[in-house]
Amino acid sequence: MVRVTRFRFLRQFLLGLVCVVMIAACGGGGGDTGAPADDAAGGGSDLLVVATEPAFPPFEFQAEDGSLVGFDIDLMNAIGEAAGFEVEFQSLPFDGIIPALQSNTVDAAISGMTITAARLETVDFSRPYIAAGLAIAVQESNTDINSIDDLEGKRIAVQIGTTGAETANGIPDAQVSTFDSAPLALQELSNGNADAVINDAPVTLDAIASGNIPGLKVIGELVTEEYYGIALPKGSPNLERVNSGMATILENGTYAEIFQTWFGAEPPELPEEAPL
Ligand code: ARG
Repeated sequence: MVRVTRFRFLRQFLLGLVCVVMIAACGGGGGDTGAPADDAAGGGSDLLVVATEPAFPPFEFQAEDGSLVGFDIDLMNAIGEAAGFEVEFQSLPFDGIIPALQSNTVDAAISGMTITAARLETVDFSRPYIAAGLAIAVQESNTDINSIDDLEGKRIAVQIGTTGAETANGIPDAQVSTFDSAPLALQELSNGNADAVINDAPVTLDAIASGNIPGLKVIGELVTEEYYGIALPKGSPNLERVNSGMATILENGTYAEIFQTWFGAEPPELPEEAPL
């Protein structure tokens, strides 16, 4: 029951986003000329080290046996298979991922990472692979927080380095506390030590539906509409391979299969570029 409700909610907002954001996806590819000076994986190697912060179900998380699972994990592996490279995941704190890309310590990152204008100044992104957005969670019994405007002066828990954290930091007089993972921020709310959490809607909904973090609800509408992308170092020779692998699995039904596995629905149409 809970699962059906969750899927329906997810499907609704994913579909909703796509309806709202009708993108005429016109080319506009990178046009980079500067080849990376010191890229060990130059020209595209057979193994890509891919960073992720693995406490973000259903996108990336650890199964009971410790293995890394989730939508992003299946997607990255399928892209590698389609494009002819192996994937080795490396777990990193979320706020360490962009620095690791900038120093070429990792070849790519898939971590429910939103494509933003600010991030595009320091890293490249693949074409968007899923629509998401931020939601506000409060305690089930809460009645006074009904929109983002009600968060003024409130205690807000967020995961460090995220778009949720950035949004919270823009709220007047809010007391923002940062945590290493989204579940830790949600737990703080559940414990009554925060008034709200701003986090990616699919992840918050999954935490509530799974019963992992009790006593929470999501309020009203999404705060933002966001698209996730696979991040790569600026000018990476692997960007094209990742994008062509993604095009292949979007076409041959593999993407739809993976989406079905994790969200129990047909995937909505994706724009070729994220609206920023
Ligand atoms: N989508 C948000 C962002 O890009 C949160 C991502 C957090 N990802 C994670 N694996 N913890 O900032």
